[in-house]
Amino acid sequence: MATPLVVVEDLRKMFVHMGRELHVLRGIDLTIEQGEVVAMVGQSGAGKSTFLHCIGTLDMPTGGRIKLAGEDLTNLSSSKLASIRNRTIGFVFQFHHLLPEFNALENVMMPGLIQGRSRKELEPMARTLLSEVGLGERGTHRPGELSGGEQQRVALARALVLSPKLILADEPTGNLDTGTSEAMHQLFFEVNRKHGTTIVVVTHNLAFAQSMPRVVRMRDGRIEADERRGASLPDASTAAAASVAPAAEGAPASSRGAGATVDAADNP
Ligand SMILES: Nc1ncnc2c1ncn2[C@@H]1O[C@H](COP(=O)(O)OP(=O)(O)OP(=O)(O)O)[C@@H](O)[C@H]1O
Ligand SMILES: [Mg+2]
Repeated sequence: MATPLVVVEDLRKMFVHMGRELHVLRGIDLTIEQGEVVAMVGQSGAGKSTFLHCIGTLDMPTGGRIKLAGEDLTNLSSSKLASIRNRTIGFVFQFHHLLPEFNALENVMMPGLIQGRSRKELEPMARTLLSEVGLGERGTHRPGELSGGEQQRVALARALVLSPKLILADEPTGNLDTGTSEAMHQLFFEVNRKHGTTIVVVTHNLAFAQSMPRVVRMRDGRIEADERRGASLPDASTAAAASVAPAAEGAPASSRGAGATVDAADNP
């Protein structure tokens, strides 16, 4: 069997805030196989973003161990971590804004340009990715000339440009309307099918979570449930109707019910 892409063992994260210890991750064990698509759900403050930051090497855990593609991240230098991060991970985080002074095509190319790769090499890839996310005609638009949903799709294309093994997405459809969110969700599945990319996505959208083959539920810094639903991805028409245990028990009451979208509006 192939090496799992992510192996997390007894992961802990403690912040010291105003002299007080805050235990945000309290011993997480999780293995993610190559090619998996995983939803992470749980109430606000459960530690989902902190967990994503740790496996994305953006934040250092205070205990436990993370292995990415078989490589133990413990005790690696920050430059080594940056190199693993650039090579292995694409981020779709809301604070990773597009650069306003560059157009969509340039934004998609940006991770490669930063690595010193040539425009000539990157441009065809960026064009293909923009077409894949349905924005083939928008390459010359700057972020200010794109809708919110289009900007999110550019961010997904940007995350893919260096062909990462792993995409980490933190509430990627926050602030989008239901229809646009749904289209974005389907894009994640398409990316997984087409590129074999492993995807971990934090979401407050219950319908989306329930359409995922695996749902990991966090509560108070621990994993409360880890449910797999067979190997094959459901198609879009059956996804919303999939009957599974409630994916985010701790989500705000307004999120309960089929198709409800909570997303970042509840978590400013
Ligand atoms: N740098 C920090 N210093 C102190 N406490 C922090 C820090 N970052 C996060 N926390 C705390 O850690 C807890 C978990 O935060 P985290 O952002 O991981 O939650 P979350 O599950 O992503 O929530 P949400 O669904 O609202 O985004 C929160 O209670 C938060 O206040
Ligand atoms: Mg969060």
